Amino acid sequence: MRMVDIIAKKRDGHELSTDEIQFLVRGYTDGSIPDYQMAAWAMAVLLRGMTPRETGDLTLAMAGSGEQLDLSSLPGIKVDKHSTGGVGDKTTLVVAPLVAAAGIPVAKMSGRGLGYSGGTIDKLESFSGFQVERTREQFLDQVKEIGVSVIGQSGNLTPADKKLYALRDVTATVEAVPLIASSIMSKKIAAGADAILLDVKVGSGAFMKTLEQAETLASAMVKIGTQVGRKTIAVISDMDQPLGFAVGNALEVQEAIDTLAGRGPRDLTELALSIGAHMLVLGELVKDVEEGRKRLEEIIQRGEAVEKLAQMIEAQGGDKQDVYDPSRLPRASLTAQVTATQDGYITAIDAEKVGHASVVLGAGRLTKEMPIDLAVGIVLAKKRGEQVRKGDVLATIYANDAALLQQAEVELAGAYGYSTEPAWSQPLIYKTIL
Ligand code: URA
Repeated sequence: MRMVDIIAKKRDGHELSTDEIQFLVRGYTDGSIPDYQMAAWAMAVLLRGMTPRETGDLTLAMAGSGEQLDLSSLPGIKVDKHSTGGVGDKTTLVVAPLVAAAGIPVAKMSGRGLGYSGGTIDKLESFSGFQVERTREQFLDQVKEIGVSVIGQSGNLTPADKKLYALRDVTATVEAVPLIASSIMSKKIAAGADAILLDVKVGSGAFMKTLEQAETLASAMVKIGTQVGRKTIAVISDMDQPLGFAVGNALEVQEAIDTLAGRGPRDLTELALSIGAHMLVLGELVKDVEEGRKRLEEIIQRGEAVEKLAQMIEAQGGDKQDVYDPSRLPRASLTAQVTATQDGYITAIDAEKVGHASVVLGAGRLTKEMPIDLAVGIVLAKKRGEQVRKGDVLATIYANDAALLQQAEVELAGAYGYSTEPAWSQPLIYKTIL
């Protein structure tokens, strides 16, 4: 088999065989296929697409290119959750302990933030002493004991995807839907998922800017899941404005705790209940989402969701008192308020701009190596659609540096749109794809 023939076949719009796909993934991983050939192939895929069968084969080949986590010693169906990323998206911090308290084993690997998109692992480090690096044994033992562990991505998982993603980044081929879909799904499969819940974000703060793009990606991933025998559900949810009120690591942790305690923002609570209920269905604990939702609401009311988070924090080296008293989390030294510049209705709180303002403060990183400030961020006081009068507080900025605070104020003020007419309401969840 020769890579040049595989490139030509895809260039001419033909379907590749399973053997050909396995050959190119194996060859690229071991270095026998060079970057320039892989880049030509990726461009051919971007222009010609892939069939669901090819995409499924690519996913399995990439999942098998490195270490694969074996979660079979854990009882029950292991349901993983993945978000395509956004601003203020602390859903995993809520959903992981919540569904674990319902009886779904959660053995989850999460990522760090990059750019204006936050990462669960950074947020969890707001708990002093919390360890995100664990041995496989510690990880599995903890899930057996308390039902939940969230750790950083470690080991040699999906090396083919790591190489290919870096190559796509510099060859204008990131946008190829089969490549995005197989990249995400290969990581979930390598991390041991039996079933997968995908939260595909759409809007200004998301990777997918239009509903059509989000639907295409969500459908491609659900098809892959079906193809490779992992039950998969995708929800398409709004990321035109930040999720909840808080943006920034410790601030988001506090909001997640509030949500687990039943006093969280409406949108975050709704999304977490919806995603959690689907996970209970995927885990075959309930027959439908209504039953799942009811069960999760009861868990929150009984205080078991907060308790589960506290157990997880303690098991991974943190102090569970931080969960019961979030004022112990990292705190910024400076605050400022951004106020409405006119009377009217808020028509937009551009999530990308809010995300950029939080990066300016130091809550996010521009390169993988940059340190972040866990204390800083933004807490919105109003959300899209609300009526305001000139001078009303729209948001509070938390900072540790006066110059950065000023810069963030300017960025944040630019995120708002106003109208004298009431704004159209946008759905939180646009669609569920089964
Ligand atoms: N996220 C991923 O993990 N892979 C992609 O290709 C795009 C976004």
